[in-house]
Amino acid sequence: MRIVSVLLLALSLICLSRPLEAADPGVEKRIDELLAQMTLEEKLGQMSQASLGGQLTEERQAEIRKGRWGSFLNAGPVEVKREAQRIAVEESRLGIPLIFGRDVIHGYRTVFPIPLGQSASWDPELVERAARIAAKEAAAMGIHWTFAPMIDITRDPRWGRVAETWGEDPYLASAFAASMVRGFQGDSLARRDTIAACAKHYVGYGAAEAGKDYNTTWIPEPLLRNVFLPPYDAAVKAGVASVMSAFSDLNGIPASGNAFTLRRILRDEFGFQGFVVSDWDSVVEMIQHGYAADEADAAAKGLSAGVDMEMVSTSFYDHVKELLAAGRVKQEWIDEAVRRILRVKFALGLFENPYPDTSLQASMLSEEHLAVARRLAAESVVLLKNEEHLLPLPASIGSIAVIGPLADSPRDQLGCWTMDGRPEDAVTPLAALREKLGEDRVHYAAGLATSRTTDETGIPAAVEAARRSDAVILFLGEEQALSGEARSRAFLDLPGAQEKLVAEVAEAGKPMIAVIMAGRPLTFQNVSRRVEAVMYAWHPGTMGGPAIADLLFGDAVPSGKLTITFPRTVGQVPIYYAHKNTGRPPSPDSLGIPMGTPVDPKGYTSKYLDVDFTPEYPFGYGLSYTTFSYANLRLSAENIPVGGRLTASVDVTNTGDWPGVEIVQLYTRDLVASLTRPVKELKGFRRVRLAPGETKTVSFTLTTDDLRFYDSKGRHIVEPGRFHLWIGPSSAEGLKAEFTVTGR
Ligand code: BGC
Repeated sequence: MRIVSVLLLALSLICLSRPLEAADPGVEKRIDELLAQMTLEEKLGQMSQASLGGQLTEERQAEIRKGRWGSFLNAGPVEVKREAQRIAVEESRLGIPLIFGRDVIHGYRTVFPIPLGQSASWDPELVERAARIAAKEAAAMGIHWTFAPMIDITRDPRWGRVAETWGEDPYLASAFAASMVRGFQGDSLARRDTIAACAKHYVGYGAAEAGKDYNTTWIPEPLLRNVFLPPYDAAVKAGVASVMSAFSDLNGIPASGNAFTLRRILRDEFGFQGFVVSDWDSVVEMIQHGYAADEADAAAKGLSAGVDMEMVSTSFYDHVKELLAAGRVKQEWIDEAVRRILRVKFALGLFENPYPDTSLQASMLSEEHLAVARRLAAESVVLLKNEEHLLPLPASIGSIAVIGPLADSPRDQLGCWTMDGRPEDAVTPLAALREKLGEDRVHYAAGLATSRTTDETGIPAAVEAARRSDAVILFLGEEQALSGEARSRAFLDLPGAQEKLVAEVAEAGKPMIAVIMAGRPLTFQNVSRRVEAVMYAWHPGTMGGPAIADLLFGDAVPSGKLTITFPRTVGQVPIYYAHKNTGRPPSPDSLGIPMGTPVDPKGYTSKYLDVDFTPEYPFGYGLSYTTFSYANLRLSAENIPVGGRLTASVDVTNTGDWPGVEIVQLYTRDLVASLTRPVKELKGFRRVRLAPGETKTVSFTLTTDDLRFYDSKGRHIVEPGRFHLWIGPSSAEGLKAEFTVTGR
């Protein structure tokens, strides 16, 4: 029985990993033949990746000729890559092609919103299309492999790399992990317009203590399996070609030397057939971590753990020979690593087509690409507040004031990790609003030159612009350089003099809208209480300006919902919806207790004295110009046996005046388990388009497999017992039902 299920699992993995064609006997045979001819140096060369830059020096050319490198990242113009490839293919002994990697994180020339923004669309299909476009543009420039998707879960907005994530939830991140892998890799890696994806940073990097980049992580195994690993499982099932091992120390063993996560879980349990690349220098950083004595020791630990290719540092190439002689590493590990790398090179068709199809360049920034960027940017914006239906503004409005450091800052709106996006391609909100209304009706004064500046000399001009206008749109937030790698913040407030700017502009007494562009959740109560409307636009990419203008004037209707909890203050971090209940959960009666009350009269419960325990905005929250109501939640059964299924349905009605899209969310709670479970867990979502007055029945089918969790022994189980189920507009609201999972 056991053998049968193992066989079935293996078969299903092979089918699901389709783009890698891992089981292709023809390819495996060609790899065998190559391995039989390769010297140890050539094998170690395949396992090495260097940063190439814009120049192909004589030295590099000689290295490529002798098979010193299997891969380059950050390689300059397409001609440089082509020449390097020519040398590899025509002048190296075995003619093995190079694989060129690059960080194509949220677009190539056409830049889409940062991933955290994309996730707020709850639209994996559109995200897949965006990744297809990024793949095509990148492939046109000779790139074979992107270091994306980044699928770390984080619950800490201080961490600058939160911008690159899909937010706090493993179910949602898994959906996006799979869709982005499908987008980059298409239905065949061999197509000239697809590129290999890389799921990163394996694993747990997003749990960096105190939100400080590269910091230590402590993640007990059940948490690792229930929260941090599912997106990787999803990426592997979608056929991801590579995985990047993280910088971070996981439970005392750095991720790039962690055999438990790399060999046992990734290869043996998930059945991953591609290769593992270390993050930049992360193999030798194990010395700094205090896990390896020197570079040779680091190489032994990285290789034995299951790193196949070393990024930038050269410990494999420099030391594996001596380690092999000393019996510290095994020849089979080396052969296995080379096999995995060659398998991806074969899958990409590089042996047959080593050079890029530059005709694809014609599609760069095409109308179609920009239209998808505009739509995804619009879908990613989250409307957080809209008092008295101030938005959308009427097209007949006399004039508007456009104020703030992010109104006309093309570089900033592109966001972090845009190596190939160009500011000159970006359309800013100012440009888009001028286009929409005409120059005369837009009174622009930045007020502050950058998001961080404390130079207030521009503020009076901004106040003056507000006085002359019928409404004020404030473009606030964080500049590009404040999020991304090594960009952690200890404060989440709007930086610089932005609060001062808003306070002074408010004196003009005009209706005000704040559009916040940032790489993370910020805390901005001092601004939201002064303005009638708030839109959270993240860093929205090349077409961010037109998308925002469309939303402000009702040419598009907001539908985005948060995929990360917004705290009231940084002191609440980490704050996330899928928390445990504790033995003393706070009750809603404890909200609004006057500050400074020494002990909450409602008792000794889990909360703060100086701020409410609830977030500023919960996970899943977002408004529209219309309103939706939920009614008639029903379950197909109240009891389901283990292995059974259940359908939950609800009627959703558009009760307002605008057509709109509602993101309907399904959550469950396992009330009693052998390992305590979160108070809510997302188990499904749907984007539902509704005309005014229209009602649709939305149904979800849940199997008891969807209710499984990993217990303390690593078993993936569902335990009989009671469950709550909610369907609603956010993690904080919804209609509720109950069902029971019975024994078989
Ligand atoms: C980052 C990775 C990135 C790599 C290559 C590292 O510093 O952590 O996410 O892919 O650099 O640029």
